[in-house]
Amino acid sequence: MSLTSAPIVTERDYRTAEKHFWHPMTSAAPDPDRPTLIIVSGDGNYVTDIEGNRLLDGVGGLWNVNVGHNRPEVKAAITAQMDTLSYYQTFDGVAHPGVYDLSDRLVALFAQEDAKRVAFSSNGSDAIETAIKLARQYWIAAGEPGRIRFLSLRNSYHGVHVGGTSIGGIPAYHYNHGPLLDDVTLLDAPWLYRNPWDTSDPEELTDRLIRQLEERILAHGPQTIAAFFAEPVLGAGGVIVPPDGYWRRVRDVLDRYGILMIADEVVTGFGRTGNMLGSRGWGVAADIMAFAKGITAGYIPLAATVFNSRVADAIESGPGFSNVVMHGYTYSGHPLGAAAALAVLDIVEAEDLPGNAARVGAVLQQELKALEHYDLVGETRGKGLMAAVDLVADKATREPIDPGSGVAARISAEARRHGVVVRAAGTKLIISPPLTLTADEARTIVGSIDAALTALA
Ligand SMILES: Cc1ncc(COP(=O)(O)O)c(C=O)c1O
Repeated sequence: MSLTSAPIVTERDYRTAEKHFWHPMTSAAPDPDRPTLIIVSGDGNYVTDIEGNRLLDGVGGLWNVNVGHNRPEVKAAITAQMDTLSYYQTFDGVAHPGVYDLSDRLVALFAQEDAKRVAFSSNGSDAIETAIKLARQYWIAAGEPGRIRFLSLRNSYHGVHVGGTSIGGIPAYHYNHGPLLDDVTLLDAPWLYRNPWDTSDPEELTDRLIRQLEERILAHGPQTIAAFFAEPVLGAGGVIVPPDGYWRRVRDVLDRYGILMIADEVVTGFGRTGNMLGSRGWGVAADIMAFAKGITAGYIPLAATVFNSRVADAIESGPGFSNVVMHGYTYSGHPLGAAAALAVLDIVEAEDLPGNAARVGAVLQQELKALEHYDLVGETRGKGLMAAVDLVADKATREPIDPGSGVAARISAEARRHGVVVRAAGTKLIISPPLTLTADEARTIVGSIDAALTALA
């Protein structure tokens, strides 16, 4: 496929400009071999780079542009809000209509989860920090202040604030920022492809993980444990899809010891896995859920942490100071974010984007499987419209490629020459397109990776 058209002319030539910013999650040392992909515009499932190439957005911005780029309905809602009230705060009993409407909408949408209250913030890391702090507050209000420990999973990603970094299970995020929170216990991830027992039997893996969970709870003492924290499908850690019964069995164990379940739905919320909620897809209801990304599809930053009746009631009736929410941000419930979220949720529901993610996701996952004949591809996996291609140095041992080898970046650069953006993340390629993707576009994404792998071979 030939895509090249004329470079987009801007007043400044950004292609040669020095960068006075750091890219997140990237070596701060300049890398002349890795040219910057500069995106200048977006429409629907496509973006256009500064060279004038129109590219299918296989990354959906950053797992977030779920309704596609530049939707007039969302822009109209934001500008209408901007014309009325561009900002007001929500501290100390002050509000604006948007926070009423959006919190009503979320509580209704998650009635099945017994959702009762919402705390707003600006991004996923905030939503997670809010969950961590309010989970501890719940236990103070409930009269068990000794419950301070969090259980979480290896390979999990919960944002970059100190609490979220501490409960996250990807070591690279820990190296430069210690010491982190002490009261965290990491459990093994529900990962069939790589696990300490080398089992690829879902039942056996689940049994072992559940045994490990219960052993750790008993070793620390249930009276010290606040909550279990996890992503319904682990995203940044490599799109790890747990075995079917895993979450339900975790919920049973947590219930036995009174431990809260917190679902990090930052990526999985609002349809990505083929269900409105990742946790709902596993047949469980979490006590606290963290949302960002898809809630506004990236149009304006906004995040929400949603609490069920158990947590909300305990905090609201907590003794003494324990019913005071000493947490929140200048931008908690930003009016522009609330307007964007309401317009995005209209689209998600009207166009049944969770249903589309399930249907088109099935095509995507099936087509990706065909790439497993390449020596470089250990496994492809995913659920709905989130997927990973796991790149290996040795197929038999499943040893990952050297993340510093640049192989993933080369595949991603080659895929772009075939008209598609896919994300190179260390030893994996990550795919998380808008949920408006068509089946033909899913095939185009896989075709571009196929062509890139052939070129590299
Ligand atoms: C599961 C999960 N939780 C939390 C976050 C943090 O979100 P943010 O980058 O908006 O702070 C992310 C970001 O990718 C995420 O994938």
